[in-house]
Amino acid sequence: MPQTLSIIIIEPDTSSRGAINSIVAPYADKITILGSADTLNEGLPLIQSTHPVVVILAVNNLEQGIKDIQSISNVSPHSSIFVATTEKNPDWILGLMRAGSHEYLLKPLDSNELLGALQKAGRLYIEKTPQAAQPAHGKVISVYNPVGGMGTTTIAVNLAAALAKQSDKVALVDLNFFSGDAAIFLDLSPKYTLSSLTTNVSRLDDNFLMSVMARHSSGVYLLSEPVEVDETVGITPEQIQRILAFLKRVFSYVIIDTGGTLHGTNQMTFENSDRVVFNTVLSLPALKNAKRYLVAMGKNGIAQHKVTLVVNRYLSRSDIKIEDAEKVLGHKVFMAIPNEYADVNDSINKGQPLVNLYPRSPVTKAIMKISESFQS
Ligand SMILES: Nc1ncnc2c1ncn2[C@@H]1O[C@H](COP(=O)(O)OP(=O)(O)O)[C@@H](O)[C@H]1O
Ligand SMILES: [Mg+2]
Repeated sequence: MPQTLSIIIIEPDTSSRGAINSIVAPYADKITILGSADTLNEGLPLIQSTHPVVVILAVNNLEQGIKDIQSISNVSPHSSIFVATTEKNPDWILGLMRAGSHEYLLKPLDSNELLGALQKAGRLYIEKTPQAAQPAHGKVISVYNPVGGMGTTTIAVNLAAALAKQSDKVALVDLNFFSGDAAIFLDLSPKYTLSSLTTNVSRLDDNFLMSVMARHSSGVYLLSEPVEVDETVGITPEQIQRILAFLKRVFSYVIIDTGGTLHGTNQMTFENSDRVVFNTVLSLPALKNAKRYLVAMGKNGIAQHKVTLVVNRYLSRSDIKIEDAEKVLGHKVFMAIPNEYADVNDSINKGQPLVNLYPRSPVTKAIMKISESFQS
């Protein structure tokens, strides 16, 4: 395991090289520049012999850049490759990412951007080495109601934040293609989304996966839904399965916010989930719909014991009682989350999970209990 984060720079422009040097110089105890070269030909032997955590590669020509990335990956497959270029053309970005680069940095380099990317690569490198041989071990927990407005996102976001109090490896994945709200609930505007992965699925690895996830101050890592609705159209169940397999390898808990009909990517998600938290409110139409979907899930092979039934926005004075719901649905209610509109709304508006913002809220207590049932 490296003591410091090692870098090799392939960059003919001396002023760019100098800029990188001065950005990392204050972190000399953590970051070491092992060497630099004008061309990859010159630098490749050093990369091969030292396996740096990061290679910063200046690219002035797309074809040459793609070739260089492949050569680096061949001799040092675990190195993260950061492309540095002045070219903003999306074809370049896509081509170079597909070839295997992990970061695309625009010149002149922004110090925060470079340091952020290095931090990500460094942490991953340290985690990756011992983890590589381990089998997938993370728990996948989906939160689902086909219809919006039931509190699915509220529950998913808060479950993730609750689990992040126990584990530093919690992912929240927004697979609600109709109305992906998780990023808004966390006040994040991620640069990359699920479609960054699905369009590059053949070169997906742990490192690339982490580079598209945004970290929230609660500790939760978010993989958000595509920004453009059009981008969700081509996402296939097989892509989702592959992405989930990677997520399980990297994270201890993967919480998925879902919604919409029960087929395609949703069906695949539930098949690959250890638990499905099905949430409903205690109204007649909601229960009727919940019944239809619970039956359909059973028919589609989602085992009953995987389903955790949760009632949200619960009012003790409600005409419909928990026992009534259990009778209708043929399933025990694991938890009733109280109706606390002011608390929940305030947390959404502040972009902070309720479990962090209002630890004493009855909603927090209910969510914490659900999260405890997943820890074993
Ligand atoms: N336990 C609760 N008490 C009061 N209001 C809630 C509760 N859970 C969710 N809400 C409110 O319900 C609305 C829908 O929540 P959201 O989580 O976005 O649902 P969905 O993801 O199912 O569409 C939000 O305005 C939220 O404030
Ligand atoms: Mg939602």
